[in-house]
Amino acid sequence: MKIGIFDSGLGGLSVLNEALSKLSEHEFLYYADVKNVPYGQKSRDEILKFSFDAVKFLIENGSNAVVVACNTATSVAIKDIRAKLSVPIIGMEPAIKKAHDLSYNDALKTLVIATPVTVNGAKLKELIINLHAKDKTELLALPRLVNFAENGEFDTENVKSYLKEELAKFDLSKFGFLVLGCTHFNYFKDSLREILPSNISIIDGNEGTINRLISELGLKISTLDQAPKVRFFYSGDEVFSKFELDKISRNLTHLKKMRAIC
Ligand code: DGL
Repeated sequence: MKIGIFDSGLGGLSVLNEALSKLSEHEFLYYADVKNVPYGQKSRDEILKFSFDAVKFLIENGSNAVVVACNTATSVAIKDIRAKLSVPIIGMEPAIKKAHDLSYNDALKTLVIATPVTVNGAKLKELIINLHAKDKTELLALPRLVNFAENGEFDTENVKSYLKEELAKFDLSKFGFLVLGCTHFNYFKDSLREILPSNISIIDGNEGTINRLISELGLKISTLDQAPKVRFFYSGDEVFSKFELDKISRNLTHLKKMRAIC
């Protein structure tokens, strides 16, 4: 099976890592829309068009299913993409339900960090209402993290002081969970862990998304340790440059380390 994975940039590599750990015998096409990243500060019409074009490209290049490894694109475009394209499309939304399911203390709140488009979008509001979680969920947009991630700046003083300043807006002793509502934020799990009090667990949506892909397509989890079969595309052009492939490989290695942090 050929599986397409799409993100505005290199944040979705965290989802690819999760997919490779469970579905190593399949082939993957990874599409990073590097010409248009960041989506989180674009208009809804732009995001709709970019996302549709990316998913269509992945299908035209043989994908039997596509994972939209971007909360922002899912928030704006998933309904439209599903209505117009005919392969299974798996979206991604902030894992607030997982935080809920793990919560042993009803008084503990959840802080969701995401892009401005996701934070202000109707889809996230609906999710929170459906989970009856309005009183215990706070939202925070952290747009600069997307630029830091794209520039390969993961645990610098700049990153840490930005995070400290933004998180200082909340009384963190009241929170039990920090939900990463943007795939780019996986790059900063170590810095977040350093800054957050130990009572707060960090939750991402990667595992849930790949589990959904597995169950929707009826796939089997691979037990064999095979070399990954992935082709990378930057906004429609296949990546062959050693410089870029090295950057992708460094990012995947960094994200593998982040995977264990919770
Ligand atoms: N990685 C994307 C997400 O999960 C968005 C980053 C961006 O392009 O602003 O929301």
